[in-house]
Amino acid sequence: MSKTFNISLLPGDGTGPEVVDEAVKVLSKTSSYYDTQFNFSQNDLGGDRYLNTGDLVTDNDIKQFQDSDAVLLGAIGHPDVKPGILEQGILLKLRKEFDQYINLRPVVLYPGVETPLANKEPEDINFIVVRENTEGLYAGAGGYIHYGTENEIATQESINSYHAIHRCIKYAFEYTKNNNRKKITLCAKTNVLTYAHDLWERIFYDVAKDYPEIETDYGHVDAVCMWMVKNPEWFDVIVTDNMFGDIITDLGAMIQGGMGIAAGGNINPSGTSMFEPIGGSAPKYTGKNIINPLACIGAGAMMVKELGEEKYASDIEKAIINTAIKLDSLSAGKMGMSTEEVGDSVVEELSNLNE
Ligand code: IPM
Ligand code: MN
Repeated sequence: MSKTFNISLLPGDGTGPEVVDEAVKVLSKTSSYYDTQFNFSQNDLGGDRYLNTGDLVTDNDIKQFQDSDAVLLGAIGHPDVKPGILEQGILLKLRKEFDQYINLRPVVLYPGVETPLANKEPEDINFIVVRENTEGLYAGAGGYIHYGTENEIATQESINSYHAIHRCIKYAFEYTKNNNRKKITLCAKTNVLTYAHDLWERIFYDVAKDYPEIETDYGHVDAVCMWMVKNPEWFDVIVTDNMFGDIITDLGAMIQGGMGIAAGGNINPSGTSMFEPIGGSAPKYTGKNIINPLACIGAGAMMVKELGEEKYASDIEKAIINTAIKLDSLSAGKMGMSTEEVGDSVVEELSNLNE
């Protein structure tokens, strides 16, 4: 009997709807090959709705997502809304509300894709960043005193609980084991963050005891940035806190060929996860049918994997690879194909794989 998954679509702002459309096209046209079926429901959260109604995440949104097996998000960010409102009020709110405590970001250079790193090949750039996704500097702890005066003091505290660190590190080790990877690097800053990252380090080596077959390594975040550029082949799985994970995964997206291809998942292993292309809403490309949908299709593949359909997920990835190779560039407007044609190509590649 075919399995049915209920997916909430949150296309959001800018080019979000265009890339989500292509991911939906791919999934709806190929699911029958894998004995699966998707019921998609639309959600209109985003900058436009906020400007029209003043609503950010409502109880109805939460209910809709709760009733879904996963959420596929396009992009959040609107040129007419002050930076921070939508990010905090939608993206970060949903990550916390659904306790999506892992942000999983593969940094994989596909064959034929250009990397800005000289002399690096696909076998050199193939690692996964496991970013803690609920705490650290993103916890929202802090405030102002004497707001708006020259005596103003602003604080923003990094919150690091044993609970959140432990589950994140545990997830990273389990991920490494289950995906046949060999080594985990803790990326932190123990030489300066002598309390918070000392706790990370202690938990890291404590959890590592249960995985003697996995090699462990440590890198300060600044050095990790250096090695990601100079020797990315050293990395296999990186586990890190929220802020550092945010920063190093943008660097990661660049070395794997850019935002056109970089996908991520906000994961609650026992709840509702949300998958997204890492890039933003790209207002200047909106509605032009020139944005690259591969990152969103890749987010769809991560979603399918998380839903337990591993073969389907790895075939979508192959179809993405076969499509990426045909493109002149991964950048919007320079692909040599339209957004829709790229989606069509992924569908075609998937049907070839199933001939
Ligand atoms: C990301 C984004 C978000 C983050 C922003 C939009 C809040 O940069 O998903 O990496 O910092 O987590
Ligand atoms: Mn980011």
